[in-house]
Amino acid sequence: MRSVLSFFKEFKDNSMTVGSIFPSTSYLAEALAKNLKTFEGPKRIIEIGPGTGPITEGILKHVKPGDTFHLVEVNESFCELLNKMAENEWKEQLEGVDFKVHCCFMEEIGLEHKFDFVISGLPLNNFKSDVIQSILTGYQNLLTDNGKLSYFEYLYVRKIKEKLNVALKRQVSMPKYKLLNSFVDAYQVDTDEVFLNFPPAIARHFAFR
Ligand SMILES: C[S@@+](CC[C@H](N)C(=O)[O-])C[C@H]1O[C@@H](n2cnc3c(N)ncnc32)[C@H](O)[C@@H]1O
Repeated sequence: MRSVLSFFKEFKDNSMTVGSIFPSTSYLAEALAKNLKTFEGPKRIIEIGPGTGPITEGILKHVKPGDTFHLVEVNESFCELLNKMAENEWKEQLEGVDFKVHCCFMEEIGLEHKFDFVISGLPLNNFKSDVIQSILTGYQNLLTDNGKLSYFEYLYVRKIKEKLNVALKRQVSMPKYKLLNSFVDAYQVDTDEVFLNFPPAIARHFAFR
């Protein structure tokens, strides 16, 4: 409950970066974390934009001692909450795990190591093209050659916005949607539609080899 209230408050104050009024459900978390199940050996995972941690909890089900699990979150209140959860609710699951919360923009993160999995909750559709481009490049830079990226977006949002643009006689396809569509066309390997989420969402999975 504490985390849901915190999410509402931060959405009110920072709607552009928080991007959604409701935290994700466990069903969406499960879809985003599904590739972790089949990985053999210690794995390195980084979650971008964990907010109050609903997807983090889905990821934690697949984290074992010896794994690395880092979070990158720009909102300081969320960072504080995540660190508290790591010390309390998640303490047992994080035993033997190299866990860290980086409280910064993901575009600013400088890490020596690469990750096997990038799992992101960033609201890409809210950002301008140049920001989207630097986030997409950032995701790829964080991954090993065989690494996988998973992120979600709300179903139908882009289609509705494109239809509205046509109705309002605005530019039919905004450059940012072209950018996202061509990223999807080039690298997407799998998707999962999740209707038990508000709004319903699609988890997209990407590989770069
Ligand atoms: C749509 S919310 C998702 C929260 C949570 N993962 C969920 O699914 O309910 C997006 C989160 O990304 C964070 N965020 C937005 N832009 C960011 C950036 N450039 N770097 C790191 N975190 C960012 C926001 O503060 C927010 O917590």
